[in-house]
Amino acid sequence: MNFNVNDLVRENVKRLLPYSSARDEFSGEAKIFLDANENSLGSPTTKWYNRYPDPHQQKIKEKLTAIKGVPSKNIFLGNGSDECIDLLFRAFCNPGKDNVIICPPTYGMYEVSAHINDVELRKVPLLDNFQLDLVHLETRVDDFTKIIWLCSPNNPTANSLSREDIEIVLNNFPGIVVIDEAYINFSRHRSFIQELSEYPNLVVLQTLSKAWGLAGLRLGMAFAGEEIISICNKIKPPYNIGQATQEIVLNALDHVEDVNEMIRVLVRERDLMAKQLSLIDVVEQVYPSDANFLLLKVRNARDVYAALLSKGIVVRDRSNVQLCEGCLRITVGSPAENTALVNSLKDYGTAL
Ligand SMILES: Cc1ncc(COP(=O)(O)O)c(C=O)c1O
Repeated sequence: MNFNVNDLVRENVKRLLPYSSARDEFSGEAKIFLDANENSLGSPTTKWYNRYPDPHQQKIKEKLTAIKGVPSKNIFLGNGSDECIDLLFRAFCNPGKDNVIICPPTYGMYEVSAHINDVELRKVPLLDNFQLDLVHLETRVDDFTKIIWLCSPNNPTANSLSREDIEIVLNNFPGIVVIDEAYINFSRHRSFIQELSEYPNLVVLQTLSKAWGLAGLRLGMAFAGEEIISICNKIKPPYNIGQATQEIVLNALDHVEDVNEMIRVLVRERDLMAKQLSLIDVVEQVYPSDANFLLLKVRNARDVYAALLSKGIVVRDRSNVQLCEGCLRITVGSPAENTALVNSLKDYGTAL
């Protein structure tokens, strides 16, 4: 396979002279900063946030290197993975000309970002076992296919895609292959993050929004070869990760053990909940999960959804989604929340 990032990147991005921020143009020691039109008097908060944050988030990247074993030059940080998704479209896909492939049912933002960027979206649905349809996938790739979006573990089906299938795509597709690993911490399977040097076309997305419990801060990570990361850095808004987020994340990254403990609890709860739910009459099937949520097929999904809502429990109704007909997607919550969910479904069953 012939992979060359320069053949894929948009011409306008190649030619682009990136924004040069005040803090990019200055290096060395200074006491008085009058270069960025900030407010030197302070902020109306107990802690001051009057200075722009590090545009390169160097300290966070150093800690991530220690945790993930990936060098800083291979890490891009976004305002949530959603920003990374959008930037990949903007870097590689020419509006009205190029196309990308997604494998539904899957995370909705790939489609939304494609539409925002006016990029043709080709859908190659997963097979009935929620695995890739490689035969169909191959027929949909053409010279204008820039990105194949894979999500593993997949939202909303909760399963991991077969590693061998993903490797076949990586080995044969000469464009970018994104593997969205938002739920990887809950999976029995290994991340692709260690394979970056093997696959120059690979981008792995991860996020602090799930296992790390930091959805409110918005921090997404893209791991890829140096050239792809430089392109993302070139087109990102200069200060895309705020100072407060950077500080809190920096502190949170010292607590890997606490996160691992939360993961253990959530995985245990997930497996317990799956067993309990499978015994309830209205539940027809609980799909195996490698994530922090369960996909269930229930009788009268819309009615069950409404009944749960009337008890103050909101789940995700996926019953109109292709291959998920009759399904609800339920996040694994705290032990008390999970018990409340299971009891409400039992009550629903007996009320019939
Ligand atoms: C597969 C997948 N990727 C990415 C995201 C969004 O992540 P972030 O909060 O980092 O934007 C989600 C959120 O639900 C998701 O399910």
